Amino acid sequence: MNQTYHQVGIIGFGDRGQDLANTLIFGIPEYCRVAAVAEKRRNPAVTPQFSFRCADVPFFTDYHDLLAMKEIDSVIVATYEDTHVQIVKDAIEAGKAVYCEKPIVPDLASAEELYRFVTSRPCQFQIGLNLPNYPVARKLKELLDAHVVGDLTMVRSDCDVGQTFARTYHINKFSGKRGNFVTAKLTHDTDLLQYLAGSYAETVWGSTANFQWRRHGLPPASDDTAVMAGVLHSGAFFTQTLTSSGATYGRSMHFFGKDGEISAEIGGLEIRLVHADGREETIPVYAQQKGGHMGADRLTTAAFFDYVDSGVMKPRWPERILSSVMIPMAALTGGVVQTGAWYRSVVEGAGKGDGK
Ligand SMILES: NC(=O)c1ccc[n+]([C@@H]2O[C@H](COP(=O)([O-])OP(=O)(O)OC[C@H]3O[C@@H](n4cnc5c(N)ncnc54)[C@H](O)[C@@H]3O)[C@@H](O)[C@H]2O)c1
Repeated sequence: MNQTYHQVGIIGFGDRGQDLANTLIFGIPEYCRVAAVAEKRRNPAVTPQFSFRCADVPFFTDYHDLLAMKEIDSVIVATYEDTHVQIVKDAIEAGKAVYCEKPIVPDLASAEELYRFVTSRPCQFQIGLNLPNYPVARKLKELLDAHVVGDLTMVRSDCDVGQTFARTYHINKFSGKRGNFVTAKLTHDTDLLQYLAGSYAETVWGSTANFQWRRHGLPPASDDTAVMAGVLHSGAFFTQTLTSSGATYGRSMHFFGKDGEISAEIGGLEIRLVHADGREETIPVYAQQKGGHMGADRLTTAAFFDYVDSGVMKPRWPERILSSVMIPMAALTGGVVQTGAWYRSVVEGAGKGDGK
């Protein structure tokens, strides 16, 4: 692989866009520089660090102007999900490699549209799913792939965002109806669940509710609590919950296999393995990478630029456009959804249309 120094455009310069800019500037400065920003708010305030390091960076309010810059080879999209399909299409048509934040789309029709688009032409595209690069998640993947607990029978995954996060994000953003909180959060968790289990959801039931987080006197705009259960294509069962009322932010995962169980706090630094005969092991995990999301942002973005440098003109994990959103979206229907049948119909049907 011939590594190159990338000129990166960032579209959407809110919390996440600025966070990722910091990752590029301080985490992987040998890989790239921020060459332009497109943000529809006029005069967005930036951090002092960004202002020092990127003093001359051009700001545009229309992202098409950024895409017109020939020197930009890669684009990070950090706007909300209802804008992603159009921006990703425009960026790919402008010849850019695209890293786009989760949740990738707001509904299943858009998931299908984007999947067909990226799989029907030579392009470089990946979703910014960073949870698999948390230190614990990386180790869990290694252990589960090594079959340490045998064939999986059940996965339990719980996410509690806690009251501080709920106030900061649910009230500030989602109560203003900027996307759906359930998909915004559980896209991450259910993608990780399927990735670690090496399968995808075949059938999903779910229910969601707003118990607590809304602006006083106003009707709820987005749910803050969810429960979902289902069966993976592999046959293993799973549950996924979302609560928003705890004291801290945390997510835990528990895998049961025919030969034992393995569990961890995803944001922690150890894994508990219990063999079927009762032997217990605590496996320490080392956080070797610094930076946002326990170093996951640094690893994820560096791997993206390595993928761009590989020259392979194929989207990375395009199926995750579908699988990352289909479980929480099924839960929002409140019924039983045959997600597996839909997933296969899109994957197997791709290539038959024109991908427009
Ligand atoms: N992977 C992660 O760990 C992670 C963490 C936080 C947020 N996110 C995701 O990042 C995305 C953005 O979230 P956020 O918290 O930064 O929101 P935010 O509201 O802070 O920022 C979004 C920004 O996009 C801008 N924008 C919207 N449409 C635009 C357009 N057409 N052109 C240019 N700018 C536009 C808005 O003005 C805003 O400044 C969401 O999809 C969110 O789920 C991912």
